Amino acid sequence: MQDSTGYRNNSQYLSTRQYQDSGNLTSRIQIHQKFSTGQQSWYEFVYELAAIKADTKVLELGCGAASLWRSVMNRLNENTRITLSDFSPGMIKDAANNMARDRRFHFVCMDSMNVTFPAVTFDLVVANHMLYHVPSIPQVLRQVSELLTPGGRFMAATNGPEHMIDLDILLEKFSQRLDKSHGMSSNFNLLNGEKQLREFFSKIELHLYSSDLWVTNAQLLTNYAYSTPLVKEKLGNEGKPEMTTFFQRRIDHYGGIVIRKQTGVYLAKDPI
Ligand SMILES: C[S@@+](CC[C@H](N)C(=O)[O-])C[C@H]1O[C@@H](n2cnc3c(N)ncnc32)[C@H](O)[C@@H]1O
Repeated sequence: MQDSTGYRNNSQYLSTRQYQDSGNLTSRIQIHQKFSTGQQSWYEFVYELAAIKADTKVLELGCGAASLWRSVMNRLNENTRITLSDFSPGMIKDAANNMARDRRFHFVCMDSMNVTFPAVTFDLVVANHMLYHVPSIPQVLRQVSELLTPGGRFMAATNGPEHMIDLDILLEKFSQRLDKSHGMSSNFNLLNGEKQLREFFSKIELHLYSSDLWVTNAQLLTNYAYSTPLVKEKLGNEGKPEMTTFFQRRIDHYGGIVIRKQTGVYLAKDPI
């Protein structure tokens, strides 16, 4: 989803409205979980790249509702210790509820701009689809590079500049108020991410995830659209039934709506 509303780096807006709890994020994740065309789910893909062993100490920045870990819980070793952090108290509450007393997980309400852990604490730091929100990416990357133990890794997932552009095209057709949208992930995306990571890490790999969406439920696609800052701020709740009808017409005609994705994961190590 794209965003020209200027809210993507506004910490106040993000923590108190867009991510005040996991509601908006859940609507978006649902679309990917139900309608992805890929062989492997996104979370399986991320988990396999993470290569977590029993003694790997993990920190996630901007963990959201802990969706990654919920998907792979049964594959995690009993002794693995994972610290989940997010700057939104509501999000941390939902994450903790979702992981219901699993002793492998700890929860911390923390702004990634100011980490509260000592240097050399974690073997793996994860920042999935969150770096494009922080006001200063170098400030976060510098702290991450200090947090890592020798041989430690940093994993950052993000999108390409045309991620889900087909939905933006449809939204522009639906309402002129939703035009000129671009680059939700433009501060840190699949084109400019490596250059930023190079300032702090000497080894960087990019792993692209291969999957698009074939959406066959108009209501869920409307919920997705209305969970984003762009639509929320420009339309409020206005036009929801009309948008569902608009999507439904296309689904009836074509059998579904194709939305191309561009998503991947950077794996960085060897801090400079
Ligand atoms: C798009 S969601 C991704 C959630 C999760 N990583 C996932 O992949 O499901 C972005 C998350 O980053 C959090 N976030 C944004 N800016 C942050 C910051 N400066 N410090 C900590 N968390 C932040 C938001 O509250 C939200 O939960």
